[in-house]
Amino acid sequence: MRHLEGAYALIFKSRHYPNELIACKRGSPLLLGVKELNDDVCNGSAFHDAKFLSKNGNPKELFLSSDANAIIEHTKKVLVIEDGEVVHLKEGGVSILKFNNDKGRNGDSLSARPASVQRALSILEMEVEQINKGKYKHYMQKEIHEQPESLTTTMRGRLLRGGSCKAKTVLLGGLKDHLKTIRRSRRIVFIGCGTSYNAALAARPILEELSGVPVTMEIASDLLDRQGPIYREDTAVFVSQSGETADTLLALEYTLENGALCVGITNTVGSVIARNTHCGVHINAGCEIGVASTKAYTSQIVVMAMLALAIGGDTISKQERREAIIDGLFDLPNKIREVLKLDQEMKDLAKLLIAEQSLLVFGRGYNYATALEGALKVKEVALMHSEGILAGEMKHGPLALVDENLPIVVIATHDACFSKQQSVIQQLHARKGRLIVMCSKGDAASVCPGGGCRVIEVPQVEDCLQPVVNIVPFQLLAYHLTVLRGYNVDQPRNLAKSVTTQ
Ligand code: UD1
Ligand code: M6R
Repeated sequence: MRHLEGAYALIFKSRHYPNELIACKRGSPLLLGVKELNDDVCNGSAFHDAKFLSKNGNPKELFLSSDANAIIEHTKKVLVIEDGEVVHLKEGGVSILKFNNDKGRNGDSLSARPASVQRALSILEMEVEQINKGKYKHYMQKEIHEQPESLTTTMRGRLLRGGSCKAKTVLLGGLKDHLKTIRRSRRIVFIGCGTSYNAALAARPILEELSGVPVTMEIASDLLDRQGPIYREDTAVFVSQSGETADTLLALEYTLENGALCVGITNTVGSVIARNTHCGVHINAGCEIGVASTKAYTSQIVVMAMLALAIGGDTISKQERREAIIDGLFDLPNKIREVLKLDQEMKDLAKLLIAEQSLLVFGRGYNYATALEGALKVKEVALMHSEGILAGEMKHGPLALVDENLPIVVIATHDACFSKQQSVIQQLHARKGRLIVMCSKGDAASVCPGGGCRVIEVPQVEDCLQPVVNIVPFQLLAYHLTVLRGYNVDQPRNLAKSVTTQ
């Protein structure tokens, strides 16, 4: 550990030391699961050097894992291992040692004499059922279909309407003491990777509109590569499903050093990002197991829309707009139920696209993020090249790719960009593009005059919530494409659920 750099969680065993294991960590998560522990030890009392022998003398089972999901089917009792600690398992006994950062006698940066650590057991607040597939074949499929419920849980207790409270408002418990500071910030910077970055991009326009504060976007690794400027007057919002992504975590450390207010938006209570940010919001989407993020994406957008409502909460001129969005949020789970009915239609489309090499997705405004995220889903699970393109950039390069073979999805649901997207469709059509158009229900004739393209009709919602609806057909398409192409849906090639290394 003295010599290692970067983030790691390691387990060692050696044939020279049978019946022993050593584990250590820095930066990456590590949990020790403890099965069938005596109640008196588990009731919050300190845990140290215990011999795990049950009453009949059998040793207890111990589990080391980087993720609670892997442990929950065995036990709910865990010890969370902290950075710089070493766990020593020997013949059923456990000890945790901490090397502090003082200079040791021999000048090493970690002291030679470790201190022993006492730690209470934590109880995981999740159920095994949450990680069962139920009636579904794959976790990704289950997680796509449970979005009406996950969104309801995300919003529970946070949207206030009717009753004694006449006005419609939003209450984010984790942020209420920080809203004034956020409103006064010079800018809001969203920081994340992959799907979490895309979710922030989808929420950016509504945050700009309601808060009046400039909002900028940073991919975590790029911020670090550039050592981009972060100021004390900034509010930095870290978006991460797992709360453990190495790039996002390092960007958080960098931002803390620069003195900005750090807000977390995560799905994982107790994750490093949730612990190390000044404040934040848990998205409460429930455990997400499929490597491809689906329900976390929609819950992240909803939380960030609520964030925008909370920040803009004291502007009277925007009250009507805010109330319309709150009504839209209440109705969103129903709209998702409706859009999920496109399952068979997306399966048919997947059959049509099964042998394609490539798929382009054009979006703009609120749905630029949908184009990026839709393409990311197809790419990461169906292993098909796919690219999300800002439709406004079409003539600046991508138009050269258009011919009668390459399938192109154009997102043209009804919002302020609708007429611009109609013109994009006409131009692609004029170049014999093979078009699939996503439009609002009832708009098929106006997006596709003459019927020369395939149409996906989705329910219309408030413009800023439309990305939540529009991503669902892409999730279904990516899922069916993957199954039809015979690839692993839940664990795509070369990918991990939590990217805990840089
Ligand atoms: C909290 C409780 C919830 C309870 C509700 C009742 C937790 C985890 N949540 O929900 O069980 O029903 O009060 O009022 O106990 N935080 C960060 N960074 C993050 C995410 C969160 O610092 O990335 C902090 C928040 O600032 C807050 C705490 O964690 O202090 C809990 O956040 P959240 O679960 O979103 O708060 P509530 O919705 O109020
Ligand atoms: O856990 P995080 O949200 O921080 O993860 C960020 C990305 O690694 C993640 O969203 C990745 O892009 C997913 N596989 C996308 O489905």
